[in-house]
Amino acid sequence: MAKSGTIQEAVKGSYASLAKSADQKSCDSLQTEKLVKYGYSSEELQTLPESVVTLADGCGSPTALATIREGDTVLDMGSGGGVDVFLASRKVGPNGRVIGLDMTPDMVSWAQANAVKLNAANVEFKLGQIENIPLDAESVDVIMSNCVICLSTDKEQVFQEMFRVLRPGGRLAIADEVALRVFSEEEKADPSKWCSCITGAVTEGVYAGMLENVGFEEVYVKQLRKPGESTSGVFSAFISGIKPAKNRSQ
Ligand SMILES: C[S@@+](CC[C@H](N)C(=O)[O-])C[C@H]1O[C@@H](n2cnc3c(N)ncnc32)[C@H](O)[C@@H]1O
Repeated sequence: MAKSGTIQEAVKGSYASLAKSADQKSCDSLQTEKLVKYGYSSEELQTLPESVVTLADGCGSPTALATIREGDTVLDMGSGGGVDVFLASRKVGPNGRVIGLDMTPDMVSWAQANAVKLNAANVEFKLGQIENIPLDAESVDVIMSNCVICLSTDKEQVFQEMFRVLRPGGRLAIADEVALRVFSEEEKADPSKWCSCITGAVTEGVYAGMLENVGFEEVYVKQLRKPGESTSGVFSAFISGIKPAKNRSQ
């Protein structure tokens, strides 16, 4: 595998280029069709500005699958242009809060401009790493993420951070790529395959095992699309889990 710093710089560079080219992109019907296939409804997409929909680049729709309640504090790890942040912001309402976290400055600026367009008062976009979440312990009710953890070179650290910032009883709602097989060190050293959300993915057993090791319970990995649709060695999945409530172990 290439040095983790090299891979992370490649990931940042690749998403900076995507964000920089965003104003030249228009939202064609192929993008909308893809997002509907990923679980978004065409009605909800129509309520968002083109600048949000164009940059949506996940592999599922966490807000369609998660239980998000009015008043919740939600964290979206690797929030990109903000699509899931804005959809969650409607579910949490004025008494809730949604925080988008992303390490790519151009993505954060783009998402902040989108928040102004939408006049979304209950959202905030922060620049930072999911390996070092800039939030207090036990301050979040739901953690969402959409096609991001597979890009991290230190998933154990990410899962520890998720466990730290979630409140007891807090929930995970993650869409991510999961590997059908273990990738070789050579494959993992190819930055373009890693940046395409392929060779950074780990198998279902490894994914669930890492979450359980840090303390998550009721961990489920559900395949999102039909088997056989994958030719790249990964499949898109929805991963749920909970941080146990404190009084259960007392
Ligand atoms: C595939 S895009 C998904 C964006 C968004 N979740 C969506 O569904 O449109 C991946 C995003 O994760 C961000 N990202 C990747 N690795 C990260 C890390 N270690 N910490 C924070 N953000 C990261 C990238 O900058 C990029 O915006």
